[in-house]
Amino acid sequence: MTQAAPVAWVTGGTGGIGTAICRELAREGYQVVAGYHNPDKARNWLEEQRAAGFDNIALSGANLIDYEDCEAGVREIRDTYGPVSVLVNCAGITRDTTLKKMSPEQWREVIDCNLNSVFNTCRCVIEDMLESGYGRIINISSINGRKGQFGQANYSAAKAGMHGLTMALAQETAAKGITVNTVSPGYIATDMIQKVPEKIRESIRESIPVKRFGEPDEIARAVCFLADKGSGFITGANLDINGGQFMG
Ligand code: CAA
Repeated sequence: MTQAAPVAWVTGGTGGIGTAICRELAREGYQVVAGYHNPDKARNWLEEQRAAGFDNIALSGANLIDYEDCEAGVREIRDTYGPVSVLVNCAGITRDTTLKKMSPEQWREVIDCNLNSVFNTCRCVIEDMLESGYGRIINISSINGRKGQFGQANYSAAKAGMHGLTMALAQETAAKGITVNTVSPGYIATDMIQKVPEKIRESIRESIPVKRFGEPDEIARAVCFLADKGSGFITGANLDINGGQFMG
């Protein structure tokens, strides 16, 4: 009997960095389940993955900010593919504006999507991981959770909070075969940074010591490294991947 492929759930899997992570994990032989928000975009995205030869990538439309929905999504993944052994929290949004103009809704949306969702996904997979005595959780944070960013009080708070959760959960699960780590990308060439006005975007590019934006694959490779069985001694860590823009 052939053993079923281990299951990797990548939230925000259809996004710029998420897509590169899904593909890299699929190449490593995982059954990948990509979380999405927009069903039309997700359908086209899946067709693109199939056309590129990735048959071991599937979709999950669970609404991560709703605990019950998240729980139902995890149940469906377990029933269809098996329990999640690798969780990558990559779902994230921006609502950039200075705090003096920020609405409570802009604050809440970002905290819900970028931080509360991470509690929900971790809480919904952790019992299966504890039972199997194995798991890898990788939280995709941001350089701006490390240093703060003008116009991103909401995003910086959520991304910094993510690493707090990483360190606490890492301690709770270290003796149980589970590792929990944070990857903090800098400015990566995706649609998200296209929303930053061009002039500001260019000044950011100039301020990066390597003089370019990062590539999604450069994040995906690190995620795969942390997801590997051989990375079991790395837990509670943060890995900065930012072209030298911030060295904490
Ligand atoms: N430092 C100091 N002053 C700054 C500044 C900065 N970094 N950026 C802008 N300002 C100044 C402006 O020059 C302007 O000054 P004046 O009022 O004297 O003209 C003022 O601040 C702008 O203030 P506003 O109240 O008008 O700002 P706003 O509410 O319209 O917001 C902004 C502007 C949307 C925040 C805009 O500056 C911006 O988009 N900044 C970039 C934010 C950013 O880096 N986002 C990252 C997105 S990518 C991502 O998040 C992925 C990741 O993980 C890295």
